[in-house]
Amino acid sequence: MSDAGVLGIRRATDADWPALWAIMEPVVRVGETYCWDTCLSEAQARTEWLAPADRTMCVFVAEETPGPGSVGAAVGAVVGTAQLHANRAGGGSHVANASFMVAGNAGGRGVGRLLARHVLAEAREQGYRAMQFNAVVETNTRAVRLWQSLGFRTLATAPGAFRHPAEGFVGLHIMFREL
Ligand SMILES: CC(C)(COP(=O)(O)OP(=O)(O)OC[C@H]1O[C@@H](n2cnc3c(N)ncnc32)[C@H](O)[C@@H]1OP(=O)(O)O)[C@@H](O)C(=O)NCCC(=O)NCCS
Repeated sequence: MSDAGVLGIRRATDADWPALWAIMEPVVRVGETYCWDTCLSEAQARTEWLAPADRTMCVFVAEETPGPGSVGAAVGAVVGTAQLHANRAGGGSHVANASFMVAGNAGGRGVGRLLARHVLAEAREQGYRAMQFNAVVETNTRAVRLWQSLGFRTLATAPGAFRHPAEGFVGLHIMFREL
């Protein structure tokens, strides 16, 4: 992060939605990393991220606040978000699933790693035994490297399962780690 900035993680509130949508909309529209319709409406995205009908969701935000040496109002800027939930219901509910999005202008500065570490710790605390990502686009090298560095391994790749707007048909990794 910037020298003066302090990055913190907290639970999201409804009031965060405009900032979350500002982060999510470019990711959704470009369609390179999530199996989501690129025409997804803001209302659909809000439901999907904050309150889907079929899952209990924990949503976090990464917030950058000015450090002690910085000048100006100490207003937090939301620079990333993550959600944590059970990967499956019933007999599969001891395995967690999580999703992450970092603001384009905050990428490569450790926000994703901090969010992921937080979510892994939270999942452990909530009693999950493992975490699984079901559909990591193989061309999303930033995410793949990040997940690998945090102990995830690729169990399998569904070949050509993702229609990338620029790369064509590319694979989807199932990535997994025990907690
Ligand atoms: C994937 C994503 C969450 C990573 O967040 P981030 O804040 O940019 O990542 P970080 O700065 O914490 O970097 C984590 C790792 O990513 C890799 N990385 C970072 N920038 C990179 C780049 N430009 N090229 C390749 N790898 C890169 C490095 O392995 C880095 O580890 P390091 O800090 O030890 O070098 C973010 O890019 C994002 O929101 N992408 C769009 C949505 C998405 O793909 N979500 C994940 C779906 S599986």
